Amino acid sequence: MRILAIETSCDDTAAAVVEGGRVIRSNVVASQTAVHQKFGGVVPEIASRKHLEWLTPVVEVAMEQAALNFGDLDAIAVTYGPGLVGPLLVGVSSAKAMAYALNLPLAAVNHLEGHIYANFLEHADIEFPALVLIVSGGHTDLVLMSGHGEYRLVGQTRDDAAGEAFDKVARFLELGYPGGPVIEQAGTSGDPEAIALPRAWLGADSLEFSFSGLKTAVISFVQKERAAGRAVSMADLAASFQWAVVEVLVEKTLAAARQFEISTILAAGGVAANQCLRFQLTRRSEAQGIRLRFPAPALCTDNAAMIGCAGFYRLQRGAGAAMTLNAKPNLSFNDEINDM
Ligand code: KG4
Ligand code: ZN
Repeated sequence: MRILAIETSCDDTAAAVVEGGRVIRSNVVASQTAVHQKFGGVVPEIASRKHLEWLTPVVEVAMEQAALNFGDLDAIAVTYGPGLVGPLLVGVSSAKAMAYALNLPLAAVNHLEGHIYANFLEHADIEFPALVLIVSGGHTDLVLMSGHGEYRLVGQTRDDAAGEAFDKVARFLELGYPGGPVIEQAGTSGDPEAIALPRAWLGADSLEFSFSGLKTAVISFVQKERAAGRAVSMADLAASFQWAVVEVLVEKTLAAARQFEISTILAAGGVAANQCLRFQLTRRSEAQGIRLRFPAPALCTDNAAMIGCAGFYRLQRGAGAAMTLNAKPNLSFNDEINDM
């Protein structure tokens, strides 16, 4: 089965062709980062307009790189939420138009489910039940996955998502956007123990996260140091902040695996591209005898190949979408799954 997949939930205009659920024949991501950078974050209205402009050429390039004609396709898959409503509508409308014109089945994919399935593109050996840590710009979720399409949310953030914390701190420190990669880069030569920053454990067995206090702690630290006329080492601050986020993510994920007696962990989402998180999660999982899988960094951040993979498994279990499909900006795992 050859699926053309479309992803436009935020500021990346993406299209991919995935064959048999696993083989990536093409994976094109047109990043709008340069467009939004001067605003320090994504401007939804501008993102919608850029998707409108870019989606058709991006789909054409994806088809060209896959060396296929539209007649060779077997299905269309698209992200329908969660995300920004305008951007989602561009993808959903054009996917529906293509499915209708080509008379093909349509798969509606939850963006978070897409992130999880980036793992299935690359790893053929994933066993259920698995515990998934989803860390992106909008979400920090711990999800129990008992089979394809079977999810139970067991932990989430009370305030900022992990990626959002990276973005907000980078913005405050004037390091650029998106925050994750620039903070990772800035902290390379820094000492992660140099600056004591708080960790929100929220009680012994809590699987909830909170990152807004950490962001505030970084801001007050910088303001205090500057007021005292002391220079702040950007490298030490970036490394210490990154370690404060990573330590909580790693410890709570491992605690959840123990709590639910799970021996497979999957990491997913943009923050899973972070080398410190990958290293620490690997180290701690190995120590606990747990199998850990994560996608290659390029498949952690938003892309359409992961949507094609999730769409494949959806269609395999007969969960196609109707032509009445609409964008659902607030879609969660709880509203799921066959609500269209
Ligand atoms: O999954 P994603 O591409 O889009 C969403 O669904 O949100 O995640 C984007 C988020 C941004 O907050 C970005 O700063 C963060 O992932 N991110 C990283 C890294 N690369 C991207 N955070 C930490 N380290 C990275 N290397
Ligand atoms: Zn994402």
